[in-house]
Amino acid sequence: MAGRIPRQFIDTLIERSDIVEIVGTRVPLKKAGKEYTACCPFHDEKTPSFTISQAKQFYHCFGCGAHGNAVDFLMEYDRVGFIDAIEILSSLAGLEIPHEQFNHGGPDHRPLHQLLKTIGDWYRAQLRQSPTAIAYLKQRGLSGEISARFGLGHAPPGWDNLLRRFSGDERKLQALRDTGMIVEAEGKRYDRFRERIMFPIRDPRGRLIGFGGRLLGDGKPKYLNSPETPLFHKGRALYGLYEAHQALRHFDRLLVVEGYMDVVSLAQFGIDYAVATLGTAATPQHIELLFRHAPAICFCFDGDSAGRDAAWKALNNLLPLLKDGKEARFLFLPEGEDPDTLIRQEGRDAFEARVISAQPLSDYLFEHCAIGMDLHSADGQVRYAEQLRPLLDKLPAGLLRQMLYKRLDDLLGIQTPHPAGPRAQGTARRPGSRQNQPQGLNATRFAVALLLQNPRLGADPELATDWADSDIPGANLLLELLEQTREQPDISVAQLLERYRDTASEKTVRKLVAIPLGLPENADIAAELRGALQRLSDKARKARLRMRIRGGQAIRRE
Ligand code: CTP
Ligand code: MN
Repeated sequence: MAGRIPRQFIDTLIERSDIVEIVGTRVPLKKAGKEYTACCPFHDEKTPSFTISQAKQFYHCFGCGAHGNAVDFLMEYDRVGFIDAIEILSSLAGLEIPHEQFNHGGPDHRPLHQLLKTIGDWYRAQLRQSPTAIAYLKQRGLSGEISARFGLGHAPPGWDNLLRRFSGDERKLQALRDTGMIVEAEGKRYDRFRERIMFPIRDPRGRLIGFGGRLLGDGKPKYLNSPETPLFHKGRALYGLYEAHQALRHFDRLLVVEGYMDVVSLAQFGIDYAVATLGTAATPQHIELLFRHAPAICFCFDGDSAGRDAAWKALNNLLPLLKDGKEARFLFLPEGEDPDTLIRQEGRDAFEARVISAQPLSDYLFEHCAIGMDLHSADGQVRYAEQLRPLLDKLPAGLLRQMLYKRLDDLLGIQTPHPAGPRAQGTARRPGSRQNQPQGLNATRFAVALLLQNPRLGADPELATDWADSDIPGANLLLELLEQTREQPDISVAQLLERYRDTASEKTVRKLVAIPLGLPENADIAAELRGALQRLSDKARKARLRMRIRGGQAIRRE
């Protein structure tokens, strides 16, 4: 049920609601310092042990343990279900619950997709009847099977093949205009694509959105693409993504190349995970789409100056989108080669080896910025740091950014000014030391509790996460919380709690969100969290070491 209402709406709803007001209209409240208290409505009592925190948008009874956010309170007190609770809050906040929409209310593009499909089928039939076009594809080394898989076709010579085919049908003519298949200039109209090999371009759902056409011989322009239309946006389209998904359900990585022919050739040689941008450097929209389909992307650039320019542009667009867990690499081909020519020379395995060992984005970044700098002089080092820092700042807060700042520090042997500032230092019983960890809570649970009760702490880029792939119990929940709070540092305790409703972790989360941590009022809770994560990190490191000493035996939990 909860999944039906968009999470974003629930977040907004909780943000706009005030738990003090909701409880206050049902139970008499007293103000006590920063909090409100009442006699608990969920058990019998004479002295108030029910408290409400306005800052956290959260209630908790120290007597019976009842606790939760505004949704929980309504469900418990008004005895209503989740949807009803959401409805009550929505009407109080004057918000309308969005209903799941099947179309986005925009114009219906189905006739345009349909028209392009009819035309694509016709181009394919034309290819079968054109010995010249077939000979061209053969000469380019393409098999009949791969041409069919990509639906390649042929636009025959002639200015008005499509125009004549659809003449008399005003709606079809308008659709030809809308899809850019005919050109209208100076009172004349004619077919856009003539005497070309046709590459149909699909969206990720397989619907035709445009075409690319290549001349059969030399001449200009060598390639012609559909113009921007309601269906086709060059800055978003990725050639071959749909076809790649037809061949492979899941990818570990996607390879981004420059040309249509590259995608098709690579697929013929068994590299089914290549896609192409269409004559532009990868845009942020391209990159978001790519990362939605694979955790790792390798950008492949032809070995020419245009390729190097495209690489630098792609890097700039990539940096803000490189969340922890995403990987980007750069592959520069030898001068004068493209993936099509190279895979034909050296075969699949050698080409794939290049992809796998391609340069990590960070190496490319550090090397590119070092070009023309004298890193042995102090001046050169300063200039180098000045050039790198704004680029590193484009990275989202996270482990990668932290590591690259450290790399810059190590490289220069100095401490560069760091967004997180210097580490907290102190003496005995310092903030973050193990002694501050409450009895009965291990480091994982302490960290989870700190984060749940203070979601802002997750934004700290100094937090260690190298314990994440250990099998420390509870590591998954902790990592998930860190990710959520890092992505949304303003999330409230109440919103966070809502995310866990009806999940396997709900019980743990509910317990830890309300557990007293016994820290003094002025405690440095950021340092406490850093300390707890550092202890986890040490523990994971020791476990790894132990495993190596024991020759690969599974880690035994203490
Ligand atoms: N491109 C384009 N318009 C052009 C030239 C190129 O849109 N006038 C785009 C096409 O998507 C093309 C890609 O840029 O596939 C790469 O162009 P290029 O390297 O010149 O061609 P190749 O892909 O090597 O094509 P071919 O092997 O067929 O010569
Ligand atoms: Mn080529």
